[in-house]
Amino acid sequence: MSTTITKPTKTSRESFTSIVGTMNALVYHGPGKKSWEQKPKPTILEPTDALVRILKTTICGTDLHIMKGDVPEVVDGRIIGHEGVGIIEETGTAVSNFKKGDHVLISCITSCGKCEYCKRGMYSHCEKGGWILGHLIDGTQAEFVRIPYADNSLYPIPAGSDEEALVMLSDILPTGFECGVLNGKVQPGSSVAIVGSGPIGLAALLTAQFYSPAQLIVIDPDDNRLEVAKKFGATHLINNAKEDVIKKVMEITGKGVDTAIEAVGIPATFELCTSIVAPGGVVANIGVHGKSVELHLEKLWSHNITITTRLVDTVTTPMLLKTVQSKKLDSKKLITHRFALNDIIKAYDTFQNAAREKALKVILTNE
Ligand SMILES: NC(=O)c1ccc[n+]([C@@H]2O[C@H](COP(=O)([O-])OP(=O)(O)OC[C@H]3O[C@@H](n4cnc5c(N)ncnc54)[C@H](O)[C@@H]3O)[C@@H](O)[C@H]2O)c1
Ligand SMILES: [Zn+2]
Ligand SMILES: [Zn+2]
Repeated sequence: MSTTITKPTKTSRESFTSIVGTMNALVYHGPGKKSWEQKPKPTILEPTDALVRILKTTICGTDLHIMKGDVPEVVDGRIIGHEGVGIIEETGTAVSNFKKGDHVLISCITSCGKCEYCKRGMYSHCEKGGWILGHLIDGTQAEFVRIPYADNSLYPIPAGSDEEALVMLSDILPTGFECGVLNGKVQPGSSVAIVGSGPIGLAALLTAQFYSPAQLIVIDPDDNRLEVAKKFGATHLINNAKEDVIKKVMEITGKGVDTAIEAVGIPATFELCTSIVAPGGVVANIGVHGKSVELHLEKLWSHNITITTRLVDTVTTPMLLKTVQSKKLDSKKLITHRFALNDIIKAYDTFQNAAREKALKVILTNE
């Protein structure tokens, strides 16, 4: 890879120090089209930016939505990806928490830390950030990435950490925990049903166990994923392609579940959650929905239930990092496949055929 030094300009002091050149990246070219190709290496654009050399990244179910064309604001030419760990290559003049050479965890949510939403802990609705990486700005499935508001959007990785395990903290663990477990008010001794046993449902399953619920029922039509859920601590499994799920949940709980976590993102699974929640319970939606859903208020109005929605804020990342560091949470077990970053097209193929390949999370290493 060739590198040259840019000439200083009057308007951007930062560009004087930026090393420019090219890099390889996974680029979206409209629905169904992607390629691993050369792109200009990113540079520092704002004093609050950091330039990170990617060490490890992964693919998210949301990237598959993008590839299908379900996220129309993603433009042709965009580098995809919003998860990963890396090393700081360069920092803007206003970055004070990090310096060149620091190992960092990249949050899928960019947050300025200063706006009203950031101050309320709703980083996902940051007025200057939110989910922008690999969406509205270039992302992490590349050799380098520019991270805006680096002080608040990156987390230091303690020396000796297992960096693969930490990639699970960029998105899926905080998502399962915040949108599913915290919003779902999982309590000691309570009953929980998780509909959807993909990486997000499994992240909810792992983090729900912080609270020792009595019953953890996992529902999915894929027997392989149910088997994984069993290994990860599910107390009951229901294959809803083969079994009468409402009847079975009532047999297990007597009254329905205290928390029903929706981790699929289709009308049928949301409606299922509202059918199995007990009076006084919570339906915690995690899934990204593309279609409207029927809400049976004629049955639910008197049941004192709560329905929650949330875009992950990643405010719990520092706490989750400690649980992974101390081995209270084994996030590495979500990883099923490993590839070199430049084999990313093959990795997409594996991830896209998750049921056939028995894939959960794939790790891509920038060798
Ligand atoms: N709210 C947020 O901030 C946020 C963040 C990340 C992801 N998400 C969303 O979370 C959802 C889950 O993500 P994932 O990566 O685990 O997805 P995934 O596609 O890997 O897993 C979905 C699982 O649901 C199962 N499933 C499909 N149909 C089902 C049905 N009728 N009943 C029960 N299970 C069914 C599948 O077999 C699969 O195991 C997606 O909609 C994703 O976009 C939301
Ligand atoms: Zn994601
Ligand atoms: Zn903000």
